[in-house]
Amino acid sequence: MKILSFTALVAFILALVPSFVLASRVTTQDQLEYEYIVVGSGAGGGPLACRLAMAGHKTLLIEAGNDQNGNINITVPGYQAVVTNDPKLRWDIFVNHYQDQTRARRDPKFSYEVAPYKYYVGPDPPFGATPLGILYPRAGTLGGCVTHNALILITPHASDWDGIATITGDNSWAATNMDQYLDKSVMGVQPDPTISALTGLAGTLLVDPNSRLNPNRDSTQGFFQIPLIMKDGARKAVRDFIAATVKGGYNLTVRENCHVTNITFDTSGSKPKATGVNFLDGKYLYRASPLSGDQGTPGSATASKEVLISGGAFNTPQLLKLSGIGPFAELKSFDIPVIADLPGVGLNMQDRYEIPVNVKHGTDFNVLNGCTFDGKPDDACLTKWENNPYFLAQRGAYATNGLAGAMAVHSNYASTTDIDLFIFGGPVDFTGYFPDWNDASLADHKHFSWYTLKAHTRNTAGTVQLRSADPLDTPIINFNYFDTGTTAGGADTLDLNAMIQAVNTSREALRKYADYAILGGDAFVEEEPGPDVQSNEDIGQYIKDRAWGHHASCTAAIGADGDPNAVLDSQFRVRGVQGLRVVDASVFPRIPGVFIQAPIFMVSEKAADVILNGETT
Ligand SMILES: Cc1cc2nc3c(=O)[nH]c(=O)nc-3n(C[C@H](O)[C@H](O)[C@H](O)COP(=O)(O)OP(=O)(O)OC[C@H]3O[C@@H](n4cnc5c(N)ncnc54)[C@H](O)[C@@H]3O)c2cc1C
Ligand SMILES: *[C@@H]1O[C@H](CO)[C@@H](O)[C@H](O)[C@H]1NC(C)=O
Ligand SMILES: *[C@@H]1O[C@H](CO)[C@@H](O)[C@H](O)[C@H]1NC(C)=O
Ligand SMILES: *[C@@H]1O[C@H](CO)[C@@H](O)[C@H](O)[C@H]1NC(C)=O
Ligand SMILES: *[C@@H]1O[C@H](CO)[C@@H](O)[C@H](O)[C@H]1NC(C)=O
Repeated sequence: MKILSFTALVAFILALVPSFVLASRVTTQDQLEYEYIVVGSGAGGGPLACRLAMAGHKTLLIEAGNDQNGNINITVPGYQAVVTNDPKLRWDIFVNHYQDQTRARRDPKFSYEVAPYKYYVGPDPPFGATPLGILYPRAGTLGGCVTHNALILITPHASDWDGIATITGDNSWAATNMDQYLDKSVMGVQPDPTISALTGLAGTLLVDPNSRLNPNRDSTQGFFQIPLIMKDGARKAVRDFIAATVKGGYNLTVRENCHVTNITFDTSGSKPKATGVNFLDGKYLYRASPLSGDQGTPGSATASKEVLISGGAFNTPQLLKLSGIGPFAELKSFDIPVIADLPGVGLNMQDRYEIPVNVKHGTDFNVLNGCTFDGKPDDACLTKWENNPYFLAQRGAYATNGLAGAMAVHSNYASTTDIDLFIFGGPVDFTGYFPDWNDASLADHKHFSWYTLKAHTRNTAGTVQLRSADPLDTPIINFNYFDTGTTAGGADTLDLNAMIQAVNTSREALRKYADYAILGGDAFVEEEPGPDVQSNEDIGQYIKDRAWGHHASCTAAIGADGDPNAVLDSQFRVRGVQGLRVVDASVFPRIPGVFIQAPIFMVSEKAADVILNGETT
């Protein structure tokens, strides 16, 4: 008890003092001159800004959110669900899986707004509730979504990089060349020995799904531990790299609580040249934040070399469009002056499909005894985590993200030899994202979920469009799932069949897991999809109704010179203008690998290399 109240006191004090690591706020306009401006401090922008500053360039990193240093939600891996609900970081973005609203509402996660940032989830909403769609969690905070994500670091497949080399003819994208950027990335992999603390399964799992020693790694099936980006059982990621770079005395200024509203251009030459950004200073300005309401104070900054956009797969296309870069007709319809007519901005959006098989046991999982997953004073698992800071193996369940292990599977519907299903297992009741999903998934300790991520999905039909010309509005996001998206060559059916097979495989694993008594062991009932859902058709409908994703990407894609929808060239440069690049989840022509942050970290390092050492004409 004593320790917990002391921690609460420290957290409270830290919340009161401005974060000590960040450079002091520059206030006068004429001082806002930099060589590089990076917009967005997540997986793409954070490491990039650090590298540019470490190379001696005067760099401004602008972040709409703020530093949550000292907030225990961001450091305890076991709080990876709770942290997505923290109003100080969270952006509530609502998306459409289907544009047909009747079909969209078949998903029990479909949500409505009943009062500002108060939601109703499920069928039969109260009268007058405003339909919103499906929650897509995002973080507006220093470090971006890496500060609230599930910490899983799985490196992409060789084919992901080789594909970009083939499309662009730029061999620096070949997988053999990309390995160096994984080595350079400070977001190192730490295969996690506490797995045994959570499950007792350590002996039965292959250790490293990222193994480079195994030449057939991309096609190797089996059970794996889940590598997490953490150090000594605590989340250590992009936020910490940025803080260390500032502390190290490098020429990096972090401007937090600052929302970039558009990019400025010098249009006097033959090609418009990006010269800087306009922004609004203020806390929680974006309307996705439940703490929003303020209008902010306008300002601007200039970049003598380049402006680099790293706002993520939703915000990067929004910001490009607000700056006059995008499809001509859409820009015109909002009276935005056209700088470059690039029809591909906000198209080509891709994501994974994810689906669970959930069961409920008669008794609790012992391993979760004392874990409330919410930081309340009776959270004994937090005490254990806090009291053993230097002994990873003794920090307990909270030194994991709550998932026990993963199966890598090559389905019968894969297009290549690469595995195309990752199926995670853990003692949670996870059915996807919806308001307060964190409470629901951890409400009791009797549930176990096997949940699938489909890699190499074939649907490229997602879109990000402006809702208005107001930069503080969220964009309209349509994923156009399954048969409402890419159908050429049976793409939708192949993806769906692989997912049906994944449900079958998850059920098989459940039948076998009676062997792992430590998991809870005793009898269980299947809750989702439920015992009645057995035929391919019924399982397929369950998947179509309830699948979700959380690796949105490819919305400002690299492409070949002749491709009218290519937004970037192979050096991240925005086509049709000068001095502007995009470096984040948006750049991929095809969604990479199984998890997306490792490829983004690698892209961030590559971009720094290209900018510092490559051609920049
Ligand atoms: C709940 C959840 C769990 C996840 N778990 C994993 C996982 O375990 N493993 C994995 O590989 N991936 C995971 N992901 C995905 C991964 O974290 C993201 O895909 C990745 O962080 C995206 O990187 P990014 O640089 O493109 O954008 P982000 O990390 O989202 O960073 C963008 C930043 O830009 C800022 N920004 C945006 N617009 C503006 C503006 N106009 N002005 C100023 N700042 C702006 C935002 O505030 C944000 O901080 C998860 C995602 C979620 C939502
Ligand atoms: C940052 O860069 C600017 C411009 O190059 C230079 O004037 C300034 O001294 C540098 N500051 C530090 C702390 O290196
Ligand atoms: C952690 O997040 C929860 C929301 O999920 C919030 O209620 C709580 O205040 C946050 N804790 C801290 C220390 O900010
Ligand atoms: C950016 O916004 C400013 C202020 O709203 C506006 O005057 C300017 O035309 C915009 N620039 C571009 C390129 O859209
Ligand atoms: C899934 O399992 C069911 C029941 O065993 C079987 O009929 C079906 O063909 C399987 N589907 C796929 C896609 O593997």
